[in-house]
Amino acid sequence: MQSVLLAEWRSVAESHHEPVLAEDVVRLLSPRAGDVVVDCTFGAGGHARRIAGGLGPDGMYIAIDRDPVAAEHFRRFADDVVCQTRFIAGNFADVLAQLLDEGIRADAVVMDLGVSSMQIDAPERGFSYATDAPLDMRMDPGLATSAADLVAHAPEDDLRRWFRDYGEERYAGRIARELVRRRAEAGIETTGELVDAIRAAVPAPANFASGHPAKRVFQALRIAVNSELESLDSALTPAFELLNDGGRLAVISFHSLEDRRVKRFMRDRVRREIYPAGVPVRGDTAISEAEQLTSRAIQPGSEETDRNPRSRSARLRAVRRHPETPTS
Ligand SMILES: C[S@@+](CC[C@H](N)C(=O)[O-])C[C@H]1O[C@@H](n2cnc3c(N)ncnc32)[C@H](O)[C@@H]1O
Repeated sequence: MQSVLLAEWRSVAESHHEPVLAEDVVRLLSPRAGDVVVDCTFGAGGHARRIAGGLGPDGMYIAIDRDPVAAEHFRRFADDVVCQTRFIAGNFADVLAQLLDEGIRADAVVMDLGVSSMQIDAPERGFSYATDAPLDMRMDPGLATSAADLVAHAPEDDLRRWFRDYGEERYAGRIARELVRRRAEAGIETTGELVDAIRAAVPAPANFASGHPAKRVFQALRIAVNSELESLDSALTPAFELLNDGGRLAVISFHSLEDRRVKRFMRDRVRREIYPAGVPVRGDTAISEAEQLTSRAIQPGSEETDRNPRSRSARLRAVRRHPETPTS
């Protein structure tokens, strides 16, 4: 049983190396020679390599990631591509605001949210329920609070809410109660101890249902540890503000709570009317602040989900800023 799970996990982890919805991302961002591209979630550089190919020597690829391991992937990427490159370590919410302050403007901004293969593939980072390791889950090891800290100190109500909302875990209440009981006795400091507690909390049939019984709780803790939804909320506005006229913003989300935020943000930009610079203000000169490039979210086809099971929950949405200035 254990070896089957490990094999399943390895195949999922290995398939992560393929960037999700890569062709659609490149088509929607349509990178051209000389463009400035901001990649908010560089990871192992899978999307970056496909996007940067079109930029030429005058183009600029600005990569952001809060995980120091991404910086190592970036060094290899920078050596291989012809465009100019820059890496900025940090939370994309802060870095995008910094870029705006610097006066940088981009022709394309991309976000591929969530966790990466390099993080799941490193058992010592504590993202995986498949191997026993310290319960960490921090994308940025400099963050003050790890998953073990949350499990040790968060109020039971918060644990339950995270498991329910971020993990869509049916047994959120039972699991939160069991964690609070166990932490008072022996503590929960490893992924293995967390898996044991979850297995003990859920009804017996749930331990044998398809999918690992700890999957949803691990996802929920990861989202909480890394304040993923708060970062997204703070990042969408500066990401859009960075765009030049005609610039494109593409976001891949993996959770309905992320996708809902992205969808609402983009819809509001499309509905908001502005008056283009240099055009006298008249009723018929107002244009939408953005044009929707994806009328509904793009999802991977069965070929991609077979090759890369993680892509199953991916949703890609994109907008273009200031589509056209009316000539009349
Ligand atoms: C799904 S992976 C990106 C994979 C990448 N597109 C590729 O093709 O290799 C997400 C990456 O974003 C980073 N990340 C997630 N949230 C972040 C945030 N708020 N600020 C900066 N980086 C973040 C993670 O550390 C991870 O490396």
